[in-house]
Amino acid sequence: MKRYILAITGATGPIIGLRVLECLLRDAEVHLVISRPAVSIIGDEVGIDLSTKAYDGLKGWLEQRGSGPSCERLRLHDERDLWAPVSSGSFEIDAMLIVPCTMKTLSAIANGYADGLIERAADVAIKEGRPLVVSPRETPFSAVHLENMLKLARLGVRIVPPVAGFYSRPETVDDMVDFLAGRILDQLRMDHALYRRWG
Ligand SMILES: Cc1cc2nc3c(=O)[nH]c(=O)nc-3n(C[C@H](O)[C@H](O)[C@H](O)COP(=O)(O)O)c2cc1C
Repeated sequence: MKRYILAITGATGPIIGLRVLECLLRDAEVHLVISRPAVSIIGDEVGIDLSTKAYDGLKGWLEQRGSGPSCERLRLHDERDLWAPVSSGSFEIDAMLIVPCTMKTLSAIANGYADGLIERAADVAIKEGRPLVVSPRETPFSAVHLENMLKLARLGVRIVPPVAGFYSRPETVDDMVDFLAGRILDQLRMDHALYRRWG
């Protein structure tokens, strides 16, 4: 079974990360880390309270969407827990994704500042030469943001910002979220039917 690390950080649009989580969990073990700011934004934008019993909150959301059983493949880690398995290069994973990724976390990764579990796991993915997919969310991007992205892109990190495409003819916000999640999952060469491909 494939094994992924997924981090959700405190940018607007955590629903895209949650959609990616739901898709990954269908047939993979997922180690999930949610930053503290992301917990607040998930509460505000998605309406899930993860501030106390985060696992139960996620399970409830997945159950509501008919993906309840996949919860057994979900491993949730505290962002401060540097003792978690994903902190070590000896713990094998297929890829790590950060969706969405704040400019703060982007900067920490680009500068090797591995203070919390998310930055540490990303640092490990880079040093071990494992696929790292980052979905930086901000607008507009400053030169600092762009330089950090360029630095990471040159190291082989896939930079996949949540940028809308309209060729799949989205009719709802859900359609657009699916498109954005689908383009991120495309980086893993994963089979999905989240959006209508061109051609
Ligand atoms: C409602 C809200 C939306 C935010 N959206 C963004 C965003 O889109 N991009 C970003 O870089 N930071 C955004 N921030 C700021 C980050 O949450 C903040 O920099 C935080 O320290 C990031 O920490 P983290 O990367 O550990 O989650 C937002 C903050 C709030 C309260």
